[in-house]
Amino acid sequence: MKAKKTLLAVVAAGALFLSACSGGGASGGDAGGDGGGDGGLIGVAMPTKSSERWIQDGNAVKEQLEEQGYTVDLQYAEDDIPTQVSQVENMITKGAEALIIAAIDGTTLSQVLDDAAAADIPVIAYDRLIRDSENVNYYASFDNFLVGQQQAWSVLNGLGLAELDGTAIEGAPAGPFNIELFAGSLDDNNAFFFFNGAMDVLQPLIDDGTLVVKSDQTDIEQVATLRWDGETAQSRMEDILTANYSDGTTVNAVLSPYDGISRGIISALTDAGYSVGEGWPVISGQDAEIDSVKAINSGEQFATIFKDTRELAAVAVDMAVALLNGEEPEVNNTEDYDNGVKVVPSFLLDPVIVVKDNITSVLVDSGYWTQEEIDG
Ligand code: BGC
Repeated sequence: MKAKKTLLAVVAAGALFLSACSGGGASGGDAGGDGGGDGGLIGVAMPTKSSERWIQDGNAVKEQLEEQGYTVDLQYAEDDIPTQVSQVENMITKGAEALIIAAIDGTTLSQVLDDAAAADIPVIAYDRLIRDSENVNYYASFDNFLVGQQQAWSVLNGLGLAELDGTAIEGAPAGPFNIELFAGSLDDNNAFFFFNGAMDVLQPLIDDGTLVVKSDQTDIEQVATLRWDGETAQSRMEDILTANYSDGTTVNAVLSPYDGISRGIISALTDAGYSVGEGWPVISGQDAEIDSVKAINSGEQFATIFKDTRELAAVAVDMAVALLNGEEPEVNNTEDYDNGVKVVPSFLLDPVIVVKDNITSVLVDSGYWTQEEIDG
């Protein structure tokens, strides 16, 4: 660590770092004590700007690191794996002291992480676990299995079968209800946690006939959506409607793992002649993206799962700063996130279900969105 910092002090002898250096932080402090405020470079790799949540994440991480005196190299790879690999390589070459990475494909970074390890650069997996590498130091995320359960609970709530915490409602309608299932991208470890969490709730109801999947597509491989792409989901939903619901039956609910996918599903339903109101299905989501919050307000989407990107950023930033100060980052899970090589120590935050009724208390009162943004 000391050698790296000395090297960094040399590399960093530019105007940018002068103020920090004159403050006495960067030059030759002990191995552990000079992480905060020394103006060191931290690389932040995000998957894509095409989804709003990653923009919020990137901005929050950058802002919070800069507040602590770090310099941030924030890069987006537009969901292109080689681009992300070369961005991370570039961060290492530029002398990054730590890397915070939200991977596009959790299995493709092994080589570049070997390079990071060789340069003694700690790596924090941001929200998505990086798989198949020894060189992932910590993982900052949400309780992703719970996210999936919450998505399923929100669907059941919309159907009148359960409370939002999953408790069964007495005297609930017997059904059967037609449901179709969507999952995320199979190269994202989270997709499995979300789907497994959701199926933990839904499978018993499919087994007892309360829920019916007319397409019969219930395996994650069948219902996955490459790169979480909304248009891919839209065309799969169109195919499902044509193949299974042309006989006058209707789909009553759609399990969707992400707001962008939900919007694709909504387009397919609208194109097929469904309209909001009687006969419009219950649709879940995730990320509280502004267009989907509006859609919840208008009744197109039933719920989303809010994961406060500001809090996640704070966890990742604290981890990076602790590591640079030679301290151990705080974790609250050392069991669940096995990346294929080791269990990565994790800090998991709690996700929150948002439905029309609590948009204001959860999203507006916390300052995540303004009422104007939601109404606009
Ligand atoms: C994240 C979700 C997000 C999805 C698509 C997942 O890894 O955990 O919040 O909806 O990627 O971007």
